[in-house]
Amino acid sequence: MKIEKGIILAGGSGSRLYPLTLASNKQLLPIYDKPVIYYPLTTLMLARIRDILIISSPRDLPSIKALLGNGDNIGVHFEYAIQESPNGLPEAFILGEKFISNQSVAMILGDNFFHGQGLSATVYNTAQDFSGAHIFTYTVEDPQRYGIVTLDADQKVLSLEEKPKNPQSNIAVTGLYYFDGTVSARSKNLSPSLRGELEIVDLIKSYMDEGQLTATQLGRGYVWLDAGTPKSLLDASQYVEVIQSRQGHIIACPEEVAWRMGFIDSEYFEKFIRSLPNSKYKEYLARLIQ
Ligand code: TTP
Repeated sequence: MKIEKGIILAGGSGSRLYPLTLASNKQLLPIYDKPVIYYPLTTLMLARIRDILIISSPRDLPSIKALLGNGDNIGVHFEYAIQESPNGLPEAFILGEKFISNQSVAMILGDNFFHGQGLSATVYNTAQDFSGAHIFTYTVEDPQRYGIVTLDADQKVLSLEEKPKNPQSNIAVTGLYYFDGTVSARSKNLSPSLRGELEIVDLIKSYMDEGQLTATQLGRGYVWLDAGTPKSLLDASQYVEVIQSRQGHIIACPEEVAWRMGFIDSEYFEKFIRSLPNSKYKEYLARLIQ
């Protein structure tokens, strides 16, 4: 199966970031020099996914729309949907049922940051050929805070536990998931957990129980962070600042990715750059096409 559609889930209550999220959506806060949502967006673009549904709360969807528009500037197509309240991650597939229309779909959490050599090939190649559901995993120091899996030699997932007290491994489930076209129907069949939310773990488990869940382990050359707490937001900002000032490359620049991937041509790109306000960002883009 091949994935051409993607969802960015960008609502949530952002309670751990209070009071930063009192008047603003988490995904609009900065990781160093650009909004948080640019990072998951470029991850989907690196997987050549250009048909993207963005889901957020009634309060925040208008600001996200104002930031991203319809996607023409970067050669992608954005649709938008409202999630009335944070009822859990699988609700995305119910709200997005029409958008998905029984095709395979990628979902990325709006606060997830992935970076590392070969990320593009990894996310793209897997999107070209998978069945059932596929997750991306990462080794963590504090497994009690995450969904934790064990894997067999073929990367098939054998067990999955949410925030285990006695973890069987330190391999955590990240916020990037690929699902086949049955995902909306499966999500509709889920019941809310004790905390009143539909749980992504239950959705993933429905595939695992059928032997339909595989994983790609992102090795130690990759970075996976989320922007969910003040510390992780700062960690991500510092990481981006250090790498960018050393290399001169900008991490997660949607316009650059669009141009490099051939979503927009050089002529269009040049015209777009001329329309930008004078800034380091504009200077960077202008340098790219020289
Ligand atoms: P979380 O970090 O689990 O939740 P949150 O953003 O509400 O933050 P907190 O735990 O501090 O209250 O969510 C992960 C991502 O998914 C985040 O980008 C918000 C998004 N999300 C939704 O859009 N809708 C939802 O129903 C949930 C649970 C999360």
